[in-house]
Amino acid sequence: MLKYPIPALHFAPSMDIDWSSPPSDLIRFRENSRPAELLEQPYFIAQTGKKTLAFIADPVAAYEILVTRTNAFPKSIVQQRLGNQAFGPGLSGTLGQQNERQRDAFKTLVSARQAQLVKEVSIDATADAISRWLEQGSIDLYREMSELALQITWATLFGNNHYEGRDMAVKETIDALHKVDKSDFVASAKVVARLTQHFMESGRWQRLTDDNPLRAIANEAGWAPSPGLSQQEVKANALVFAASGHTTTGITMAWSAWLLGLHPELQQQLATGIRLRPDGEYERRTVRNLINESLRLFPPGPEVMRDAKEPITIRGTEIPAGSMLMVSIYFLHRHKTLWENPDLFDPERFSPDRAQAITKGSFLPFSGGDYGCSGMSIAFAEMTSVLSQLLSKVQLDVDPADAQKLMLETGICLYPKSELRCKISLRGE
Ligand code: HEM
Repeated sequence: MLKYPIPALHFAPSMDIDWSSPPSDLIRFRENSRPAELLEQPYFIAQTGKKTLAFIADPVAAYEILVTRTNAFPKSIVQQRLGNQAFGPGLSGTLGQQNERQRDAFKTLVSARQAQLVKEVSIDATADAISRWLEQGSIDLYREMSELALQITWATLFGNNHYEGRDMAVKETIDALHKVDKSDFVASAKVVARLTQHFMESGRWQRLTDDNPLRAIANEAGWAPSPGLSQQEVKANALVFAASGHTTTGITMAWSAWLLGLHPELQQQLATGIRLRPDGEYERRTVRNLINESLRLFPPGPEVMRDAKEPITIRGTEIPAGSMLMVSIYFLHRHKTLWENPDLFDPERFSPDRAQAITKGSFLPFSGGDYGCSGMSIAFAEMTSVLSQLLSKVQLDVDPADAQKLMLETGICLYPKSELRCKISLRGE
């Protein structure tokens, strides 16, 4: 069995934390800002003013809150407000029937057909990126993968067209995202929003092909309402999909490549296992295991917030209605009672024979239920396509000393605090 140690992350004992900070501030999952007890306990209760705040790392409760009793635990008003502030009344900023209506209207953006388009576009975009990276010799994986993911997202969301100025717009977005304080969710999201809006309003979207999903909902006259959706909702969702569609996959591909660069033996094994099948597809099962293990160790969305409309009992303790529930995906994924050696990088945990042992509700990188991620299949189409190509063509090398210095912070996603530097050379050279 392969096991590769990666540095554990340290969290402060709860005594050092100022729980009186306003709830909106709690979205910032800075290093040392969560109770270390959650790595061993199923929950941690804190009081902020009159409100009870429950951090939850119990798989049964997490599943109940997110999946089976969604009506009793709707998306938190804080999470909803943040989504609204950043993008407007799109999927991340709405609840109930309005959210359901939008999901329905945007089904085509996450359909199997769209996933196929994402795969096709990813092949060309990755080949271009690899040539560029080989010339550079050493890259910051976080930045480069974010750029690649943004290119793929724009090309597939706004039409598979190479319009003039697209490369410049992608560069501007990435540069701007790197300049803002990444711990500021709204500021980061606004950068993507400004540039995407520029794209949409500059009239370029009018050149989209007739079968483009955005085209189908916005008519020739501009931001006209589509059946059941206002102009504002269409626009907000274009931004939601552009932002959610690339930040998460970019960082996951970066972590996956970085973890491979730290573990040359595993990289070699995976690279030899990646076969190009007669139908032109790569064998992706092992790459899926790698992605799942990266998502377990570094979930891009480390926490989701829900409001308790009804009480919930966790292991015999009742959390009252009116509490704010922080379902801690990060802590579930690293929990000492749920995973064997939780801080070890071990992609084979997700192989079919061992995956059966994974406790239901303990692995939730895409959250779940009515408000869970809508883009999972699109995300896997992109990530498996990019990483399979990368593995089959290049050798990645990461300095183990960098891993010792690794620190994390959050903004829209869980990020590395500094570069994810990696040497890149042609495989076999
Ligand atoms: C590795 C990739 C991704 C991960 C780990 C991820 C994870 C998540 C998580 C944790 C949420 C919050 C759900 C909640 O509050 O319960 C979310 C929401 C969302 N994601 Fe993803 N996501 C990924 C990729 C994508 C992609 C590629 C798209 C679009 C094509 C997308 C579209 C969305 C949307 C629209 C929402 C908002 C749903 C709502 O609030 O109703 N995501 N995602």
